[in-house]
Amino acid sequence: MEKKAEDPGQAKRAAGYRAAEMVEDGMVVGLGTGSTVYYTIERLSERIRGGLEISGIPTSFQTALRAKAAHIPLTTLDDKPEIDIAIDGADEVDPKLRLIKGRGAAHLREKCVAAAAKRFIVVVDEQKMVKKLGAAAVPVEVLPFAVIPVMHELRRLGCEPVLREAVKKDGPVITDNGNFIVDCRFSIIRYPEKLETALAAIPGVLESGLFTGLVKKTTVIVGGPKKVKILSSADIFA
Ligand code: A5P
Repeated sequence: MEKKAEDPGQAKRAAGYRAAEMVEDGMVVGLGTGSTVYYTIERLSERIRGGLEISGIPTSFQTALRAKAAHIPLTTLDDKPEIDIAIDGADEVDPKLRLIKGRGAAHLREKCVAAAAKRFIVVVDEQKMVKKLGAAAVPVEVLPFAVIPVMHELRRLGCEPVLREAVKKDGPVITDNGNFIVDCRFSIIRYPEKLETALAAIPGVLESGLFTGLVKKTTVIVGGPKKVKILSSADIFA
């Protein structure tokens, strides 16, 4: 019998819904960006209709619009600088729970929100789990004023930087913060922590999509066709 193709939507829904079940009454919730967190928002909306009371901090215009449509009350980092739980997707997750994020150019706000959260829940499908980070490009948010010298420095770090082009708009992507995105493909990233630090040290770089410093508060929910798997830092540091 022919094997049925796996539906990534189903795995994303399973992971996104499972994360929404971790949210408790009264919590401030960081709402990530992308197609997997979409399902978390959907499930949170159902739970709010059932009486759950939370406030969300969106990490992008897209998520703010989705959350408003889902009747999730929103707040800001100014008003709630301490977040109980942040839920977000990822493009790659390695066995130490280090991440590449930013396919949707939202990683600057995503990192601010994740850093302010007590727990960071990452929702992915199985295809995002990798042995080594680096097949996905590392997005870097860059101040437009400094884009040329930044690209020069990025080349020195060993990648071929590509300025991300917009779709349905001529010219570069402009982020929610008014900046450019430069995508950096490094193939295999041997030392993700060192690379994140090196990227952050370039004047004009606002943030990279490498997330290596949040591992201790990270839980990864991996959606599969039949069940979800939960990986936490406790498994790694045990
Ligand atoms: C947004 O910029 C990204 O960091 C996303 O969170 C990440 O790319 C995962 O997106 P999907 O859940 O759509 O794959």
